[in-house]
Amino acid sequence: MTGSTPQELLAIAIDVAREAADTAYRMRAAGVEVAATKSTITDVVTAADRAVERQVLDTLATIRPDDSVLGEEYGEGAPGATGSGVRWIVDPIDGTVNYLYGLAHSAVSLAAEVDGVVVAGVVRNLFTGEEWTATLGGGAWRAGQRLRCSTETDLGQALVATGFGYDAARRSHQARVVAGLISHVRDIRRLGAAALDLCLAAEGRVDAYFEKGLAAWDQAAGGLVASEAGLRVAGLRGLPAGPDLVIAAPEALFGPLHDRLDDLDAAGGP
Ligand code: IPD
Repeated sequence: MTGSTPQELLAIAIDVAREAADTAYRMRAAGVEVAATKSTITDVVTAADRAVERQVLDTLATIRPDDSVLGEEYGEGAPGATGSGVRWIVDPIDGTVNYLYGLAHSAVSLAAEVDGVVVAGVVRNLFTGEEWTATLGGGAWRAGQRLRCSTETDLGQALVATGFGYDAARRSHQARVVAGLISHVRDIRRLGAAALDLCLAAEGRVDAYFEKGLAAWDQAAGGLVASEAGLRVAGLRGLPAGPDLVIAAPEALFGPLHDRLDDLDAAGGP
């Protein structure tokens, strides 16, 4: 088995994510069908979600047999016999609804954790081939360029991305939060793939991002890309980013955005 430095894990993650993105792209070109629904009727899983995750699991089981894997479709796998301390976190297709509709904003996300800390991650847009990578302490990168987040300091000028869950009651609460925020920012973007939203924030293509209800696979790789690009990635009131809320914002915007979201009870509701 290869070693487990962040750079070594990133190199593996990139190879595996590229193959996964190729498979997802080919399957999209061949036609896409909903295979099942998950939390609600609109929370779909396509045959490609399953096939791509299966491919990732099989590859990792071959080349990293002592590691464990957490994936969106197949859940938590058992660690390998000796337990290496490495856990891979995979979202085979983030932005599944975009994928279904052929909107070119959908990605494979793969991160590697060592002893519970994400140390390497890659997010690859499976339509465009844009690829973001990061290692802990080693910066965030795309196309050979080191990434820095937005230098915007005025929340009123900030373009803020967000997303919505699949549950109707949760979406209603999230829509109320957005309604309370939109007049205090430049504008809102809902692009449909959390991992990509975090990567766009990493290079200032949006100024900040927040969302309630993200799972580990939505944010593991993108969260590292964002924090390595200088964004503060955290939850409300000193909590770490998690299912209750993820806020990713440049230092100067974090406080004002955090306080506004706290006032709007962004981590509350169903
Ligand atoms: C979803 C997307 C979406 C976000 C949802 C996620 P999926 O992931 O990232 O942008 O708003 O919260 O569940 O279902 O496409 O993998």
